[in-house]
Amino acid sequence: MADERSVVELTVNGRPYRVEVSPRWSLADVLRHRLGLTGTHVGCEQGVCGACTVWLDGEPVRSCLLFAVQAAGHEITTVEGITPAEGLSPLQEAFHRHHALQCGYCTPGMLLTAEALLRRNPAPDEATVREALTGNLCRCTGYQFIVDAVLSMRPSGGED
Ligand code: FES
Ligand code: FES
Repeated sequence: MADERSVVELTVNGRPYRVEVSPRWSLADVLRHRLGLTGTHVGCEQGVCGACTVWLDGEPVRSCLLFAVQAAGHEITTVEGITPAEGLSPLQEAFHRHHALQCGYCTPGMLLTAEALLRRNPAPDEATVREALTGNLCRCTGYQFIVDAVLSMRPSGGED
């Protein structure tokens, strides 16, 4: 059967794109393979690992579970969109300082999930941070350093 394509208009990191897609392509694949935004990682492709997390209108979603055509008309933000043109964001600095990554595969998704939490709740307790990150799997760090990095972003600097 012919793979019919349609043109979809996407806004990614504040920039408009018109891109020809197949209706069955995931947003994750379009971001990576059509727009070159390879900061969005793909792990399980079934909504479990969180590596593909992006924001849709500011809320974290799994871009492997969304068709690109479903994202038309929404604001999409990827890890590139929360990274300054020069250097690192404060949360990225905190990940660096706390050794919150090893292979880095989970890191873009972790950053987007944690950044969304901190924007909603600038002073989460540890249980809230752990709860927020339950949908993002990390096979390297054991999570503690990631939690420490997020907690260090509180106005108190990490103290309860
Ligand atoms: S690749 Fe999307 S949740 Fe794992
Ligand atoms: S740093 Fe390797 S999966 Fe998290």
